[in-house]
Amino acid sequence: MQEFLAIATEAALAAGERLQTYYGQLASIQEKGRPGDLLTEADQASEATVIEILKRHYPEHGILAEESGPAGMMESPYLWAIDPLDGTTNFAHGYPFYAVSIALLVQGVPQVGVVFAPFMEELFCAAKGLGATCNGKPIQVSSTATLRESLLVTGFAYDRRETPDNNYAEFCYFTHLTQGVRRGGSASVDLAYVACGRLDGYWERGLSPWDLAAGVVLVEEAGGQVTAYDGSPFVLQSGRILASNGRLHQAMSAELQRVQPLTGWLAPAVL
Ligand code: IPD
Ligand code: CA
Ligand code: CA
Repeated sequence: MQEFLAIATEAALAAGERLQTYYGQLASIQEKGRPGDLLTEADQASEATVIEILKRHYPEHGILAEESGPAGMMESPYLWAIDPLDGTTNFAHGYPFYAVSIALLVQGVPQVGVVFAPFMEELFCAAKGLGATCNGKPIQVSSTATLRESLLVTGFAYDRRETPDNNYAEFCYFTHLTQGVRRGGSASVDLAYVACGRLDGYWERGLSPWDLAAGVVLVEEAGGQVTAYDGSPFVLQSGRILASNGRLHQAMSAELQRVQPLTGWLAPAVL
């Protein structure tokens, strides 16, 4: 695991350095499909950097990268899930909350996770059984025990205008119950911040494996808990996650199951 972690770290640092050469000077920003789902030359350059390094070290592994899809030996038990720029909207606006996210899945289970936020110069690393670190120092989740004292984070998927299951109701609901709910704009950094105790809990839907896999290892190795909304085992392909410091988990799960979708002013038909 240590060697996998070292190579993932090498790739994340190199890709992060590449991202910084584009920050604040993007020549091309396109929409990928849905409104607001952006693609820039920085996403592509970062992804090429990560893939080149991983392929050089592990030509026999599979690769699942956000912009280029599956590659390499997809029948291998080892699969790298890569988000070359998690937080593209932030990046495109010059908002410095974004990261490179790299995870290694073994037989479908995330085992190694690296999240590098280059503007903040923060490197979060974790591997199963080895703990979690930020810039080499061990990290752990917060000890916040009540929603009333908590600071949470969430996000909204690009299909939010098309589905009533768009997380707006949950966002309002938890805003009412807590000290605040942040919308970071980078799922991997949101999870890294839960892992290091800056945030107490995170939930979101509509995500992809490359958004979540690395952050899940970080939270678990930092002593937190990761499940589906109802507390059942987390399924990476579901795109739906509840991650917390553990102490808040049951309360967050109960509230997520209680909340009703908003109707009326935010109904998709109106948009
Ligand atoms: C997005 C970010 C955001 C989340 C979106 C993701 P991208 O990833 O992680 O926080 O709310 O659902 O798709 O598109 O910037 O890689
Ligand atoms: Ca992403
Ligand atoms: Ca991305």
